[in-house]
Amino acid sequence: MNIPQPKPVSFSKTTITELMIPSYANFGGKIHGGILLSLIDKVAYACASKHAANYCVTVSVDNVDFLEPVEVGDLVHLKAAVVYVGNSSLVIGINVIAENVKEGTVKKTNNSFVTMVAKGDDDKPTQVPELILESREEVRLFMEAVKRRELKKDYRQKVTEVSTLLREHPHEKLIQGERCVLKLKDHI
Ligand SMILES: CC(C)(COP(=O)(O)OP(=O)(O)OC[C@H]1O[C@@H](n2cnc3c(N)ncnc32)[C@H](O)[C@@H]1OP(=O)(O)O)[C@@H](O)C(=O)NCCC(=O)NCCS
Repeated sequence: MNIPQPKPVSFSKTTITELMIPSYANFGGKIHGGILLSLIDKVAYACASKHAANYCVTVSVDNVDFLEPVEVGDLVHLKAAVVYVGNSSLVIGINVIAENVKEGTVKKTNNSFVTMVAKGDDDKPTQVPELILESREEVRLFMEAVKRRELKKDYRQKVTEVSTLLREHPHEKLIQGERCVLKLKDHI
């Protein structure tokens, strides 16, 4: 088996620029969130597959908060870099910036993390090259990704525990004060 050679973050840094055309807009005249999600996935794929030198699939998308609306006519720049590699997985950090060329202004609209997994010719997860970290910032981003991975594991476990507990002991008191109306038609 070929052992993949380590690669620096700079090797796969990728930027996509896309013009926001009228057909991307919602009824309010702003750009659909789904358009940006699709572009985020596209740039994450380009960056991950370049590092992995293999076909990659999207496993998970974190931290997609739309901070500012994007307008028709804006140029949207998506800047992607590998921030972490595991065995077969890679985390890609993506900054989304919207530029109004007429006014000469830019605004940050997203900062997301996408986890991709590299697949081999047998369609199974395959090892990716180690990441060469060449700056303190790249080290910080790598460590943050390690921490996020741990927190996600704890979070998933807690959500499963809470879900099991509520299935076994439905505490309807929990929804008191919430904006819902109970009109149960089944027998719990
Ligand atoms: C991603 C996939 C290959 C994982 O398969 P699997 O049999 O669970 O493989 P593994 O358990 O060996 O996991 C492979 C890697 O994925 C990571 N992974 C799996 N699920 C994950 C999740 N929800 N979030 C983050 N990483 C995840 C594992 O940690 C592992 O990383 P590592 O190799 O760096 O340690 C499989 O679930 C898949 O093909 N999913 C569909 C992906 C797809 O089609 N996406 C497009 C959307 S339509």
